Amino acid sequence: MVLITLEGIDGTGKTTLITRLLHQLVDLEPVFTREPTSGWTGRAVRRGIAEEVDPVAEALLFAADHAVHLASVVRPALAEGRPVISDRYSDSRYAYQSVVLEGHLDDPLAWLRNLHAGWTIPPDQTYLLLLPVDQAVRRLGGKHRRREHFEQAEVLRRVQEAYIALAEAEPWRFVLVDATKEKREIARFVEAGIRRTVERSRARRRP
Ligand code: TYD
Repeated sequence: MVLITLEGIDGTGKTTLITRLLHQLVDLEPVFTREPTSGWTGRAVRRGIAEEVDPVAEALLFAADHAVHLASVVRPALAEGRPVISDRYSDSRYAYQSVVLEGHLDDPLAWLRNLHAGWTIPPDQTYLLLLPVDQAVRRLGGKHRRREHFEQAEVLRRVQEAYIALAEAEPWRFVLVDATKEKREIARFVEAGIRRTVERSRARRRP
């Protein structure tokens, strides 16, 4: 079955998109899921972020939460033949932590890829929401109370660049989404893409 992921810097409107997809894709019976998870490993990640733990420790916490996510949600859903749609996944590490780990490790992206090698499941398709950073920061404006260190404009600019580099390296997997567009239009575009991917995967499995 198919594993679809949604990625992008904070403030690109992923949450709104998911809410719409939840309604628009009910007939496909997908499993909607997210990283960080809502379980204890996800809570550990959020605590690590809040306490600004050492960046290597933070990356390891995210990876541990990913392992739990795979074991408890992603693998079982795929085994049942259900499409999985994840709000953030390994590319979040490759984009955010490669920036955060700069200066701590020689080659953060290579280290992060190694960390995932051999056990993660690569997504079939990844929708990357792109938005000018100043607009993303403006959209985040109301969230000052829980502002995280990832949400500073300069960090977000570099994270978005890292996302674009990931997309350029695997153009067959990434679909770029213009997040400045109208919400309904974005949701229709992503919905149509997901339907095509699911249909293709079902056609491949037919005898
Ligand atoms: P998220 O839950 O998407 O943000 P929000 O709570 O605003 O909905 O993710 C929390 C933060 O963690 C967000 O700034 C993105 C960041 N993040 C990483 O740095 N690496 C990761 O692997 C993941 C999954 C998230």
